[in-house]
Amino acid sequence: MTQDDNCGGAAQQPPEAPYSILVLNGPNLAHTGLRCPEIYGRRTLSDIPSLVETLLGERSAQVRLLFFQSNCEGELINRLEAARNEGIRGVVLNAGAYTHTGLALADCVQWIGIPVVEVHISNVFARKETIRRHSFLAPHSVGMIAGFGLMGYALAVQALYTRFTGSD
Ligand code: DQA
Repeated sequence: MTQDDNCGGAAQQPPEAPYSILVLNGPNLAHTGLRCPEIYGRRTLSDIPSLVETLLGERSAQVRLLFFQSNCEGELINRLEAARNEGIRGVVLNAGAYTHTGLALADCVQWIGIPVVEVHISNVFARKETIRRHSFLAPHSVGMIAGFGLMGYALAVQALYTRFTGSD
């Protein structure tokens, strides 16, 4: 597995893997591991590549992970739009609170034509704020994974890989 990033671990150099997946994180997620560990756990975004490797085993050699995190909705939209021209095959998206408020981000997910898997570290349906049960992204996503901590990102990568290869 190769990885490029602005958040999620050190970049390694090539060879080209056939399946490029963008791992896109929204507001307040850069400090995962420090932020409310009783809700989000102590793992950091930089643990994601090793979780993917553990789950996918040798299949992970076919996956290239690109990482981007921003606290700004417009920057997340810009990154998704750019993904269209980069041959990115799928997106793992944890939009943080924009999940519940971000109509502009949802509009982007709707039209870009790249399969998006929505991820939440916590089980948003079991949280006390009922607004967290609503997702603007869900109608435009291929699926959602919530409540499995950082492993959820790896499960989402596996789901996309399975979709690409038809290896279900
Ligand atoms: C979150 C859940 C959101 O409700 C919250 O605003 C976040 C993180 C999660 O990963 O569990 O920032 O997306």
